[in-house]
Amino acid sequence: MQKKWQVLATIDIPEIGAEILEKYCEVKINKKDVTLSKEEIMAKLRNKHALCCSAEDVINAEVMDSGQNLKVIARYGVGYEKVDVEAATQRGILVTYTPGVLTEAVAEMTWCLLLSLGRHLIEADRFVRIGKFKRSGPKALLGVEMREKILGIVGAGQIGTSVARKAKGFNMKILYSDIVKNNEIEKMGGKKIELDYLLAKSDLVTLHVSLTPETTYLIGERELSLMKKTAYLINTSRGKVIDEAALVTALEKEQIAGAALDVYENEPEVTRELLGMPNVILTPHIGSATKETRDAMAIMMAKDCVAALKEQKPSHLVNPEVLA
Ligand code: DGY
Repeated sequence: MQKKWQVLATIDIPEIGAEILEKYCEVKINKKDVTLSKEEIMAKLRNKHALCCSAEDVINAEVMDSGQNLKVIARYGVGYEKVDVEAATQRGILVTYTPGVLTEAVAEMTWCLLLSLGRHLIEADRFVRIGKFKRSGPKALLGVEMREKILGIVGAGQIGTSVARKAKGFNMKILYSDIVKNNEIEKMGGKKIELDYLLAKSDLVTLHVSLTPETTYLIGERELSLMKKTAYLINTSRGKVIDEAALVTALEKEQIAGAALDVYENEPEVTRELLGMPNVILTPHIGSATKETRDAMAIMMAKDCVAALKEQKPSHLVNPEVLA
């Protein structure tokens, strides 16, 4: 049977999602583990009706115009700051995303980093591998406990709230900064507070804001200087929320105790100095990388993509005004 629609996926979508698309569409998947350049996307998009794209792909008006038949841009993920939604709307192109399904995976990853930082997990692993483990010395690799520490959550949306929920298990005190009050966190005893105070009081600061002009470089030299010397900074949101050069300086000057980053200012590049710092954990944007979540994201994206192509309303639509 001749398939009606053509889809370009710039990423290797989990099979469970690809199969949904393949029922209705001819799907061209980039199986290589490399980000396609703008030119490559434009060349491949020519006859396509749908584009499934990743966090790295910049989908601007020029890219959209290379796909004359383009009806839908489906973001495999929750952050869509690299898709020019206004340009898509002007062209009548729907933009979908995958909210909600990755909340728990990212919150768990945040906890993985919080605990690993506190207990020097990566350093401890290296310690064993390079043969330094001679005995369990009373002063070796001393960490800090989470118990009763102050956790500062910057951005109390779904992921920030889930991080807070898990903090209660450690009996932590929770501070959060956000534009709006978060009733669930307040019920846990958490307090809404200005960012500067949160930075000054917290033992661990974790970032969960979306990237907007207001949150770009939210954490720079001044903000880092407000933090405790014993505090840790964790970022599983977007790299550009932190001024990476300022972070390097703060770590070099021991203004903070350490950091864990899953995202980077110029991803996938990592500021060189960070690579040599033992008190820094670096992971490759794997916040949502669990089998369960990546499959759920693939199903959500594929179903929305097919709905858009069938001229039905996708369930997770960024620009509903296109259909108004
Ligand atoms: C998201 O969903 O935006 C994650 O960062 C993965 O792309």
